Amino acid sequence: MHSNLSTRVLKVDPSSIHFSPLAHLDGSLPTISDPKTKEALLEAARIIRDTDETVAFPTETVYGLGGSSLNDNSVLNIYKAKNRPSDNPLISHVSSIDQLNRTIYGVNDFKDENLLNNIPKIYHNLIKNLWPGPLTILLPTPPHSQNTLSKLTTAGQCTFAVRIPSNPVARALIALSDTPIAAPSANSSTRPSPTSAAHVLHDLNGKIPLIIDGGSANVGVESTVVDGLSSPPMLLRPGGFTYENIISIGGEDWINCKVERRRTVAPDEKVRTPGMKYKHYSPSAKVILLIPNEEENENLLSINERKEKFINIIKSEIESSEFRKIAILPSIDLTSVITNEFLNSSIPGKKYFIDSLGTDGETIQANLFASLRKADEEESVDVIFVEGIREVGEGLAVMNRLRKAAGPDNTVIF
Ligand code: TXA
Ligand code: MG
Repeated sequence: MHSNLSTRVLKVDPSSIHFSPLAHLDGSLPTISDPKTKEALLEAARIIRDTDETVAFPTETVYGLGGSSLNDNSVLNIYKAKNRPSDNPLISHVSSIDQLNRTIYGVNDFKDENLLNNIPKIYHNLIKNLWPGPLTILLPTPPHSQNTLSKLTTAGQCTFAVRIPSNPVARALIALSDTPIAAPSANSSTRPSPTSAAHVLHDLNGKIPLIIDGGSANVGVESTVVDGLSSPPMLLRPGGFTYENIISIGGEDWINCKVERRRTVAPDEKVRTPGMKYKHYSPSAKVILLIPNEEENENLLSINERKEKFINIIKSEIESSEFRKIAILPSIDLTSVITNEFLNSSIPGKKYFIDSLGTDGETIQANLFASLRKADEEESVDVIFVEGIREVGEGLAVMNRLRKAAGPDNTVIF
């Protein structure tokens, strides 16, 4: 039905958007000094508020595909454009606590002192410090008489997910539409998440009417999803804020926070985190994840010894295979030693594309999806070997995405 839309891309200038310091609480509107930016955002806001259609827009984490959280047809159009199974619940994005109270709980007469009344106390330290930003919390679905959310947004669950993004383009769009925006990542289901407007266009051209291009998403992985309603509280999806951030900022309630580690769910079980039930984050090329061995004596290996082990695994994977063009994405240990010359002399007769993910957690996180897409969509490689990292700090989110991109059969410890 929506495969023949013509997709417009409108560029905006994030630096022309200004919010007052309390806008994420009181809902005051931004000023937008660049007329083109203002026009594009008003057009996008109109589509969100007044139609059943969707708009792709930048957030600080990844690009989102947004539609009104309040409108069943908008949510259906999100699922349709992405080709996403509809039992996966969506995050509602709001621009302020005031907007959350008014548009999701239907309450208009909040005073400053009871602004946070709809948010359980366990979240207060987290949201006071980490909103606006890449933190998503679960709240109880409002009682039936008050609830305005589409059942399709929550996939029928008794909780819903919400966040206030920090990207000025996202915040301005949500504020101008004065609508909570349901937005999963703006990729086709199963593909790596998009961190640029070009990635969105690649996947969704002809399927959505509008992409707002606000430059690249700099965090590079999705928001951290936490559940403070369960006991102990859970980190359901590692993301832009680290587990260590949540523990240190959340206060004593969060000290026992557990990380959701189940990798699969039964076919009839509700989906709480993505990729547990469905393929996720994966390019068309085969991805092979090489994970550094964490045993104590292995940590003493020199970089050269690690390089030899890494290359031997690649050799055994590709020597007897049809793979002709091979991408290698080295990271912390091997960026400085994996070169084209070295590869050509170690395993001749193949073509190599080397693209370092970076040598620190934040950089690796920011490059992750873009590098997988570049190897796949621009270089058209047959196989992608990725050097994994330790699962601390940003490593938890990075490895969560990489394990799902590779799948359990294609992870190798070296
Ligand atoms: O950074 C992000 O969060 C991006 C940008 C666009 O904001 N959005 C995003 O949305 O990643 P999505 O739909 O791909 O991820 C939603 C996550 C999933 O892990 C989903 O299972 C979880 O939120 N989720 C949503 N509602 C939930 C609920 N009621 N209970 C448990 N998990 C929920
Ligand atoms: Mg996604």
